[in-house]
Amino acid sequence: MRTVLVLNGPNLRRLGTREPDIYGTATLADLEEACAATAAELGLEPDFRQTNDEAELVGWIHEAVDRKIPVVLNAAAFTHYSYALHDALAMRTAPVVEVHLSNPAAREEFRHTSVVASVADGTIAGFGFASYQLALRAVKILTGN
Ligand code: DQA
Repeated sequence: MRTVLVLNGPNLRRLGTREPDIYGTATLADLEEACAATAAELGLEPDFRQTNDEAELVGWIHEAVDRKIPVVLNAAAFTHYSYALHDALAMRTAPVVEVHLSNPAAREEFRHTSVVASVADGTIAGFGFASYQLALRAVKILTGN
């Protein structure tokens, strides 16, 4: 089975209690459970990780580059300003799908910029957990099996 890194950036471990009007009341564990079910359907092996640390996230992208593993990435606030993350993703050797639970384009101005978008194969935003599930389907399509 093909491994897919499902990476979540800062504050996403707080799902469930974090701004529930925007992000809902389901937890990161609930999100992982929903994704695991979709991944199983697709014959993908998800490896879920979350960090608040930019360096750790960059390290995981390097790992994906070296192992040629596709990535579903919610870089959270790093999306909007991390050139280190941008530069790491520029080295990608397998598909990268940018995801967001909310639709950043419909929110504050600072969220309208993504430094990830230009080094991802595509972006899925605004559909809550379904953003990740659609991203897993995109990985399946992009990896052609
Ligand atoms: C987010 C959107 C970002 O703007 C924000 O900083 C997050 C979550 C989302 O999933 O909607 O932390 O990536």
